[in-house]
Amino acid sequence: MPVPLFDTATPLAPLRAEIDAAVARVLDSGRFILGPEVAAFEREFADYCGAGHAVGVANGTDALTIALRALGVGSGDEVVVPSFTFYASAEAIPPTGARPVFCDVDPETFCVTPETVRAALTPRTKAVIVVHLFGNVAPVAAIEALGVPVIEDAAQAAGSTAPDGRPGALGTLATFSFFPSKNLACFGDGGAITTGDDALADRIRMLRFHGSWDKVTYEHVGYNSRLDELQAAILRVQLPHLEGWAEGRRAAAGHYEQAGLGELVELPREEPGVRAAWHLFVIRSERADDVAAALRAAGHGQKAYYRTPVHLQPAMTGYGGGVELPATAEVARTHLAIPMGPVLSAADAAEVVAAAREALPAGRQRIELKG
Ligand SMILES: Cc1ncc(COP(=O)(O)O)c(C=O)c1O
Repeated sequence: MPVPLFDTATPLAPLRAEIDAAVARVLDSGRFILGPEVAAFEREFADYCGAGHAVGVANGTDALTIALRALGVGSGDEVVVPSFTFYASAEAIPPTGARPVFCDVDPETFCVTPETVRAALTPRTKAVIVVHLFGNVAPVAAIEALGVPVIEDAAQAAGSTAPDGRPGALGTLATFSFFPSKNLACFGDGGAITTGDDALADRIRMLRFHGSWDKVTYEHVGYNSRLDELQAAILRVQLPHLEGWAEGRRAAAGHYEQAGLGELVELPREEPGVRAAWHLFVIRSERADDVAAALRAAGHGQKAYYRTPVHLQPAMTGYGGGVELPATAEVARTHLAIPMGPVLSAADAAEVVAAAREALPAGRQRIELKG
């Protein structure tokens, strides 16, 4: 049986009646923007993360820009960000007036490290965006110890845990996306910013609402960027299930290991003590394209997400030109996402591994760093 790259429908099917009721509740209320559903979701999501505050915004990209603005990032400042990530992690920086400065990652975890961040710091660095890529959790405390505020880009890491807490409560600020394919997803665009700092939370609430408390006096040039009541009501139905879905994702990773995937390719390595709710299960192989072709031939989902890292994208030439990031180059060349999700079974994993074995009959090859 073909195994899709991700299956969002099956986990949601048992919740359909509850979701319908939540949508009907909002329609009946006649309240669509910044009402009781958003307020309740913000409280529930902050509690889940272990953060003092959560503020709903329109999407995960706005969440990053607004978080940077709340920190006072602006013209003349630099923000350190990995290049091996979704484009939006860096795209969110220039609208503040600041420059993205790209740093490398650990190829085995896909996350930035204190060393890769330190190499990119300058006296102009105002913040670091640490991406919890694919659901792994980067070492936030060790990076914040470098003396620069950390924004966690936790778009892909809802449901993961680290020894010192959950994504959302590890840095000065954290941002989430509730895009429909994410671990916690709404039926459209949505996002949130979490923080333990009361003053930052107040600034964020203002910035998402045109820089105003009351739509009478405008204290900042802000944004119209809000999570709406319908999406918040839908997210409230799903949030109590996030933990169970995260366990399903961990079990799926275990199924791949038991099926022998590690004999064929490099498996993702969790940061020490982290229990990743893998958003994407990303392997590395010198022959990633052959593995992709074999999975495609068997009807299974697969995708190389970031073959061209962000610093080499045309829009980033003004910022990324001349930057040498050897581990980024290696993972960009060798990575491949294979099917992952809360309901991926041992039988599914065995079928995917059997297809990969067709491409790699001789087993795992060493990955060469080509810089
Ligand atoms: C790592 C990362 N950062 C930021 C974003 C942006 O989120 P959104 O698509 O909700 O704007 C995404 C999601 O696509 C993401 O994966």
